[in-house]
Amino acid sequence: MTKIEDFIDLINAAFKTQVFIKITIGNLREKKSYLKNIFIKPVFIKENAMLSFVYRYQDKDVTKNFLLDEANSTIKNLLSSFFYNAELYTTTENIYYTQDAKTSKEKIVIKSLEKTIVQKEITHDKQKQRLLSTNSIYLKALGITSAEGNVKAAMQHKYKQINKYVEIIDGILKETPFANGFNVVDMGSGKGYLTFALYDFLQSKKIAVKINGIELREELVKKCNDIAHQSTFDGLQFTQGSIQDVELTAVDMLIALHACDTATDDAIAKGIKANASFIICAPCCHKQIRKQISPTNALQNITKHGILLERQAEMITDTIRALILEAHGYKTKVFDFIEEENTPKNVLIVGRKSKFSDIGFNDNMEKIAALKNLFGIKEHYLETII
Ligand SMILES: C[S@@+](CC[C@H](N)C(=O)[O-])C[C@H]1O[C@@H](n2cnc3c(N)ncnc32)[C@H](O)[C@@H]1O
Repeated sequence: MTKIEDFIDLINAAFKTQVFIKITIGNLREKKSYLKNIFIKPVFIKENAMLSFVYRYQDKDVTKNFLLDEANSTIKNLLSSFFYNAELYTTTENIYYTQDAKTSKEKIVIKSLEKTIVQKEITHDKQKQRLLSTNSIYLKALGITSAEGNVKAAMQHKYKQINKYVEIIDGILKETPFANGFNVVDMGSGKGYLTFALYDFLQSKKIAVKINGIELREELVKKCNDIAHQSTFDGLQFTQGSIQDVELTAVDMLIALHACDTATDDAIAKGIKANASFIICAPCCHKQIRKQISPTNALQNITKHGILLERQAEMITDTIRALILEAHGYKTKVFDFIEEENTPKNVLIVGRKSKFSDIGFNDNMEKIAALKNLFGIKEHYLETII
């Protein structure tokens, strides 16, 4: 029996006794290879326990899932022909396989861990668990996936973001389903990543929807309309225009994600005036309030530091937006878009129109006045235009 086969036996034992955490395969025989490393972890796919291999290339990750027998022969081939090293991590020990590049001498070293690692429950492969299929025409056309339908390494974050976004909308729609389809307006739709993702997701759930993306930039509008046409997304269209000028008639859900500075306020105001059932925005670049902040109290100690002033401006701007939404009968929540990424661009404000809102208009206007007074702010743009 070769040392590689011994190592594979150890993998099988770890897999069967459920102490397996992961394997990393590295140290290439051909240093200029396009492939760099391989990472392997256990997954359940359609109730089959499998091993998921992530092949890390210079510029992309490719995932392949194998049942144990196939995984064994793949690892054997990888260690015989492409790599010198592999490490198997288990909950009780780490097992290292190495082959000397010059002498071809192989060895296996086993190091027991001082403390047993508590095994996380083996979940379905995250990639597979995502709501959006990676094989869509639009994901390729937008450059998120490769021609083979793999998410490009540089676009992993965007892919995660759009999935998280549709997950949030899914949660909202579970709470408040729209019986006969509904109209969505996406203000400042940009390259359309999130607009396409939402349309695709709602279609996959057989929800009849019309989405209109409003965007200033003509070239983006044209490109997005071309991709919508190629994708036969008949209910999705993009319109060149400004948020301030667009005329909204029937709108159930108004979305504005990362519409710059006061464009978010313009979008919220349009949504309130159109009596949209939902107003969802992810604000960005909070400049309008920042220039005005000039407290004459202990808050000066905070706002004298540029970075803290910036954070204060973000918080006050979005707090006042939430108070204005509430004042107009929207039950409002403010939360992180993607939990582990705590940046101002990651805050989502979700307002749901409610017949039963018990928040008085005047109460909230008083709260806004008190906040403005505290920070020496003269005008919040949304308050002025609404
Ligand atoms: C940062 S991008 C965000 C795009 C997209 N919503 C997203 O989150 O991926 C902001 C987009 O809003 C557009 N935009 C900014 N102000 C606008 C306005 N007043 N009317 C229409 N579009 C606007 C910009 O051209 C840009 O494409």
